[in-house]
Amino acid sequence: MFHLGWFVGNGYSVQSWGRDWAGTDNDDWWSPSLYADAARALERACFDFMVFQDGLMVPDVFGGSMEADLKFAQEIPRSDPTAMVAVLTQVTKNLGYIPTISTSFYPPFMAARMLATLDQLSGGHAGGNLVTSASDRAAQNFGLEGHHDHDLRYGMAEEWTDLVTQLWDSWEPGAVVMDTERHVFADHTKVHPIHFAGKHYSSRGPLNTPPGPQGRPVISQAGGSPAGREFGARFADVIFCVPNGIESMKAYRRDIHERMAAHGRAPEECKILFMVDPIIGETDQVARDIAAARAEKKTTDAYVEEHLSVMSYFSGIDFAQFDLDQPMPDLDGKVNAQQSTMARYQKDAAGKTLRELVIAHNMVATIDLVGSPDTVAAKMGEVIEEVGGDGFLLSGPLNRKNIAEITDGLVPALKRRGLTRSSYSGATLRENLREF
Ligand SMILES: Cc1cc2nc3c(=O)[nH]c(=O)nc-3n(C[C@H](O)[C@H](O)[C@H](O)COP(=O)(O)O)c2cc1C
Repeated sequence: MFHLGWFVGNGYSVQSWGRDWAGTDNDDWWSPSLYADAARALERACFDFMVFQDGLMVPDVFGGSMEADLKFAQEIPRSDPTAMVAVLTQVTKNLGYIPTISTSFYPPFMAARMLATLDQLSGGHAGGNLVTSASDRAAQNFGLEGHHDHDLRYGMAEEWTDLVTQLWDSWEPGAVVMDTERHVFADHTKVHPIHFAGKHYSSRGPLNTPPGPQGRPVISQAGGSPAGREFGARFADVIFCVPNGIESMKAYRRDIHERMAAHGRAPEECKILFMVDPIIGETDQVARDIAAARAEKKTTDAYVEEHLSVMSYFSGIDFAQFDLDQPMPDLDGKVNAQQSTMARYQKDAAGKTLRELVIAHNMVATIDLVGSPDTVAAKMGEVIEEVGGDGFLLSGPLNRKNIAEITDGLVPALKRRGLTRSSYSGATLRENLREF
């Protein structure tokens, strides 16, 4: 069996701006209703979790202006995903929730407390998607002149996570006795200051909230650079990645497992999920027609402009300055934002003009999955069989049509084949992740 997670790639935002099947989302995007519907459907389909993307700025790299990003609702709006997750924890019992948290900008004490609180609220189904954030604008919102260098960010993230983990451990198991007869809430001999004094962060501790059922909430990570993989291999319970094709997927897994072994961790301690965006139709032909219509939409000037603004955000480099009918310039060594994301573009750019690259590039898919539920389920099974595990992160649009196609179309076909679970056996998100 393999695991399924759902990536809310726009974070807590307007999900369908300029897209089909918006429903009421363009009018009431801040409402929990779409997320709650999604959460119930994902739980019915026995997904492990829902992860929320996040960012901490309004981008203005493309054309040196906020215009494109505000117009296309690209990286904005971004409301706080931890608040939405708090609401959703009351809608489901078994689904996990993983909001994104920036190690660069959230004070560790605050993050440790917030995630422990979400773990309590969710009965042990919370996690944090730890990112280092990529943009100077985010850094400036927190009082810096610009962001730290890429690898320093990951070095700081390691120390940050050490500190946060110590805060979660600052209450020993059994510290909360809640003995009304003796009038003792917690045993003071089992709650300890941590006196953490690092190079970048310090905190006295202890945490002022007891840990939730998981003790340490689940940690996910998606850094694809060597520094990012190293961070994930050391701390993560689940890693998200976008290697292209079977051989790259195998190599990614091997690399993470080797790095984990160097930290004394066994492969089963961290699940590696591959991003996919399945296109499902009643028949293979219907699905192929939908895929063709989607590809056609990518050739419009509006799509190209929107995608260039995304590339500008990913790279921190203004793509409005480049000729669309020339090859993409070599950016090697020039990216301080999402290095591995831009390395994927660079690899894909060979033999194409910038316009052709924008139209052809698939940001989220490791493998193409287009077909009827049975066709796609069979292919997912074959891929995991060949690659060796551990599952997929579904990253298609968050609208009710797509959710139904996946949870009520694809997943029953996966369950029929015994490829994904039909019930939850664990009491917590981590137990569910470790089940197979
Ligand atoms: C599935 C997935 C989710 C991500 N979510 C976020 C996010 O919410 N916020 C963010 O700043 N970066 C996010 N990223 C970017 C990663 O944190 C990372 O910067 C990127 O994968 C490039 O890796 P590198 O920085 O190690 O080169 C995400 C990446 C992936 C693949």
